[in-house]
Amino acid sequence: MPASPLASTATATLGRLDFPPRFLWGAATAAYQIEGAVAEGGRTPSIWDTFSHTPGKVAGGDTGDIACDHYHRYRTDVTLMSHLGIQAYRFSLSWSRVQPGGRGPANPAGLDFYRRLTDELLDAGITPVATLYHWDLPQELEDTGGWSARETAERFGEYTALAAEALGDRVNVWTTLNEPWCSAFLGYGSGVHAPGKTDPALALRAAHHLNLAHGRATAVLRSALPDAQVAVSLNLHQVRPLTTSPADLDAARRIDAVGNRVFTGPMLSGAYPADLLADTAHIVDWDTLVHAGDEAAIAAPIDLLGINYYTPAVVSAPSPDAAAAGHAHGESDHSPWPGSEDVNFHLPPGETTEMGWAIDPTGLYDLLMDVTRAHPGLPLAITENGGAFPDALTPDGQVDDHDRIAYLHQHLAAVHQAVDDGADIRGYFLWSLLDNFEWAYGYAKRFGAIHVDYDTQLRTPKRSARWYARAIATNSVPAS
Ligand code: FCB
Repeated sequence: MPASPLASTATATLGRLDFPPRFLWGAATAAYQIEGAVAEGGRTPSIWDTFSHTPGKVAGGDTGDIACDHYHRYRTDVTLMSHLGIQAYRFSLSWSRVQPGGRGPANPAGLDFYRRLTDELLDAGITPVATLYHWDLPQELEDTGGWSARETAERFGEYTALAAEALGDRVNVWTTLNEPWCSAFLGYGSGVHAPGKTDPALALRAAHHLNLAHGRATAVLRSALPDAQVAVSLNLHQVRPLTTSPADLDAARRIDAVGNRVFTGPMLSGAYPADLLADTAHIVDWDTLVHAGDEAAIAAPIDLLGINYYTPAVVSAPSPDAAAAGHAHGESDHSPWPGSEDVNFHLPPGETTEMGWAIDPTGLYDLLMDVTRAHPGLPLAITENGGAFPDALTPDGQVDDHDRIAYLHQHLAAVHQAVDDGADIRGYFLWSLLDNFEWAYGYAKRFGAIHVDYDTQLRTPKRSARWYARAIATNSVPAS
């Protein structure tokens, strides 16, 4: 295992780790996690509305019906960002708000909401970074096969054109998909995410159609908005073999294939990796699934790769006695790893967040350096990083989240080290601006820099928000 990056000496000025001059400091959210107003302004249900209203799918029976009521409170939220000095805001568009049902014309009321939001951001000097898809597929498209159907990629291209036409005058940075691994493998494999299917063949089909959707959207954005910056956000897994035995190394190779290279292969190198095709040949017929020209379409060049990082994955070869750790984002009897179902996952030693995810900033450093080595010259941004912690309001209404500050500090130091070591990292987006609807965990897990009281919708910046504001103001974090 590589040595800790934090053990080596980073460039420090007056006890600070300084970031490059134009480093962008941001915060991120997603539509279904914060907007609420699910039946307002012409929005129709998405797969997450259906899933969250299905008993037993989300902890506590929570839904995104109201969430942070951001649809009505976006002005307050932009003001809060402005007070913290946030320079860029990564949010997602709700497809079924922009194009109800996922087909046909755009919905003026839906577009107006995003116009008002982006105007507010621009007035506050905050760069809008729009994600086209953060998991909330219009339910009507799921009813005709969802991501397992090739047609959904074509619909995504059309939706992208509507969004680009309406918002391209004010949004210059676009992300096509957020974490397609989760959409495909948690949505159609383990079933812990919407639409809750548990079929490895559907999961692989979904992965290909998400790749194709990314390619279609990139082409549409290029032709509609020639000056726009186009990115995709991947939750690349920092895969570590438990030992250096050939069997454990092969387990790591397999998880890297179906966890990472299933996307980076076609997106960045123009082809699916041969070992992935071999590992999964008994599940899907790739020759029928992938049409001539698909890989070239998926490989449309991007300007920036977004990396979402929370924790590394430690894996070992299948063995009857090893205890498998839970899969990220929920528990299921079904595997999200088609073809590699028997690989064992191990919780690394040390502290964990409230999600049970190991806190390990060396994973972020190693990931950034691995991607830099594999794709030299590719600009990167950390489009999500953060932690859920057991936040509590003190009697005087404060949240003293020292554990989150430590998490952010360590991970930003790892980013700084990667910059020092040659990675081209353009920015960092804290997950998340606000406490919000954490998918299958509902409101039980709090990731925000700003605390949300879901009864009153009162927002309270946590101590970590003030810490982050200072990092932004000084373009640095303390050296220790
Ligand atoms: C990521 C998701 C984001 C949030 C964080 C904790 O996988 O993109 O919406 O759930 O995890």
